[in-house]
Amino acid sequence: MVTAVITGASSGLGREYINAIIAQYPSVDAFWLISRRKEVLKEIAQEHPDKTIAAISLDLGKEESYDIFERLLKENNPEIKVLVNSAGYGKCADFYSSNRTLQTGMIDLNCRGLVSMIRLCLPYMLDDSLVLNISSIAAFAPTPRMSVYGATKAFVLSFSKALHDELAPRGIKVTAVCPGVMETDFWAVANVPEGKSRLIDKLPRVSPQAVAVGSLKAAKRGKMMYTKKLFYKFYHVLGKLLPHGFLMEFTEV
Ligand SMILES: NC(=O)c1ccc[n+]([C@@H]2O[C@H](COP(=O)([O-])OP(=O)(O)OC[C@H]3O[C@@H](n4cnc5c(N)ncnc54)[C@H](OP(=O)(O)O)[C@@H]3O)[C@@H](O)[C@H]2O)c1
Repeated sequence: MVTAVITGASSGLGREYINAIIAQYPSVDAFWLISRRKEVLKEIAQEHPDKTIAAISLDLGKEESYDIFERLLKENNPEIKVLVNSAGYGKCADFYSSNRTLQTGMIDLNCRGLVSMIRLCLPYMLDDSLVLNISSIAAFAPTPRMSVYGATKAFVLSFSKALHDELAPRGIKVTAVCPGVMETDFWAVANVPEGKSRLIDKLPRVSPQAVAVGSLKAAKRGKMMYTKKLFYKFYHVLGKLLPHGFLMEFTEV
């Protein structure tokens, strides 16, 4: 079955990719939706009775989940057309006093998990298939008080660019998606202290639906990177031109 695999499919941006893929890739008839909350995934599955949807509950921050996922792949032998790696979280905290496992957990999920997913899925990916890796505008310059999160997203951006080149001859298009601020559950998890954020409240919002639709089109065209809104495209350029020591005067969360 022609299949789309989406991590972080239970909410926010990941969830938006389901409809975007249905609209742009009618040939995809199976979806593997992955996150921890199985009940939510099952509810989402019921919204699409005409598709074959597997609600797969896995904690992608844990290594053993990838053994389970590998077995699922071997047993079902899917033909993967689209892989979206959207599962991720960011924590806002002064690193000095922060919780160690929440900090290292971001590396486990946002980096290790994403690398594992791609490596495991590759043998099942069709010619002319897509990998969309959700990075962030936080990849463009370091972000004090979301320092580990920003570093994980810089990893995703760099890794995706290299993989874009490496996998092109195999007909697999890799795109790093770098959204600006989206109103999703992300910010409740990030726990930005009331009144302390200098930045987030002032930044323009982007719609997760528009990011999903736009990035899928960009990926189809073979774009290495996608970011929405002129404001964030300009920030991307600034991140290349200006010293990061200067930019960090403005990027602290
Ligand atoms: N919102 C923003 O402003 C923003 C901006 C730039 C980039 N991003 C990136 O966009 C991606 C999606 O975030 P979002 O805004 O859509 O936030 P969200 O609504 O909180 O979605 C996060 C998704 O990741 C899943 N997830 C979290 N921890 C997991 C784990 N250990 N194992 C498996 N799944 C896990 C969650 O599902 P369960 O809770 O069911 O596990 C959920 O489906 C993230 O990579 C984030 O870094 C967000």
